[in-house]
Order: sequence, then structure tokens, then C-alpha cells
Amino acid sequence: MTKLSVNINKIATLRNSRGGDVPNLIQVAKDIQRFGGEGITIHPRPDERHIRYQDAYDLKPIVTTEYNIEGNPIPKFVDLVLKVKPTQVTLVPDAEDAITSNAGWDTKKHKGFLQEVISEFKRNDIRTSIFVDPIVDVIEGAKETGADRIELYTEEFASEYAKGNEKAINSYVECAQKSIDLGLGVNAGHDLSLDNIKFFKENIPGLLEVSIGHALISESIYLGLENVVNMYLHRLK
Ligand code: PXP
Repeated sequence: MTKLSVNINKIATLRNSRGGDVPNLIQVAKDIQRFGGEGITIHPRPDERHIRYQDAYDLKPIVTTEYNIEGNPIPKFVDLVLKVKPTQVTLVPDAEDAITSNAGWDTKKHKGFLQEVISEFKRNDIRTSIFVDPIVDVIEGAKETGADRIELYTEEFASEYAKGNEKAINSYVECAQKSIDLGLGVNAGHDLSLDNIKFFKENIPGLLEVSIGHALISESIYLGLENVVNMYLHRLK
């Protein structure tokens, strides 16, 4: 069973672009779960350009499935996560000005730091996952940090698969198997979509969870477009 956790950052981006409360983030999170979504993911960034820190608190009583908060564990983020106490925290080494996450951890170089923050989250009963590139050495380093899971950074797979290169899955398969052998759970995310998710799922052993945002929200807009255009036409008759 692979759980689908829906990343709702894009909903917050759309809301913030008008300054009001449309679309309503809380209602969207409720509806995603009502439609069967098995988790809600948010990725608050220090500049709060999409998810605001207050959103993380407001979502807490609403998320009845798995609540996953991702981000770079700077003190402000660690503090937020310890207060909100989500099901899972996913640690991502993203720069403050990064448009989106663009690399996994160097788990050997940052081992001491990761061990420290991970043990703090674990003391607070929050499951920990760290975002990694599909490199066996990095997976071995992830085990040493004490993390419960790894999240495989799937951007490279997605872009290669779109060009027809199915072999791009190989390093992910190897790293997922290595994680399982080491007792690490396997999550994955970034650029997964309706086009590539089936192939990815069918090939990756023990895939516990995927978090999907950009494509899922874009596909939702596109697949809903005909219906909504027709609803407007009907009202304008
Ligand atoms: N995982 C991490 C660590 C991310 O930063 C993101 C994007 O916020 C995702 C997964 C989801 O990526 P996408 O929006 O491309 O589905």
C-alpha cells in the first residue's frame, strides 16, 4: 500500500496571489481527505510565500489522515514542528530563496546536525524522514542519522521518464531496496504526476508514501476546466 499525501502549497500560492481567502486552504484540505487523500503535506518556507506558519496550526485539527510537514530545519521551523506535532516531519536542505526543493541531503557531511534534530523530533514522537538523492552511500548515511524514513527526490526520474528513458528508475529501485535492507521506510516525491506515478509505483519496492503537489493541482485545474467553463456558460444564458 502506497499512501497518497497531497501537497497543498499551490493552493496557498493561489490564495496569497489575491490576498483573500479564496481558495480556502482548510476547506481544500478537508475535501482532499473526503475524496480519499491519505495525507496532507505542507512545506512552509521562511518567507511564507505560500504556506504561512499560521496555516500549519490551523490545519492541525483538520488533518485526520497523515500530517506531513516538510522543510529545512532552521530554528524557526524546528520550533513550529515541535509545537504542531504532525505525524511526520520531512527534512529538506533547501536554500531560503529556492523556488522548490532541488537537492537531497549530503547525509555524511551533515550527519551530526541531522542526528541532533532527528533525535529532538523523535523525543517528541514525530516520525522523521529525510529528503535524499538516489545514491546508495547517501542512503547508508541516512541510516546513521537515526531517521525513520527517506524520501527519494524523484525530479531526475520524472524528467528522464518524460523523455522515454525508463532506465532512470534503476538507481531508485536500488536505493529503495537498500533502505529496506537497512530498516528505513521509503517515501518519494517531486514531479510525480499522472503520467509517471504508475510506472514508479510498480517498480519501487516497499513504497510507503508519495507526496504530490504541483502536478496534482495542475491536473485538477485542467481536468476541471471543461466543467467550470460550461457552468459559467449555463449561468450566462
Ligand atoms: N517533496 C519535497 C521535499 C518537496 O519540496 C516537494 C515540493 O514542495 C514535493 C515533495 C512535491 O513536489 P511536487 O510539487 O513536484 O509534486
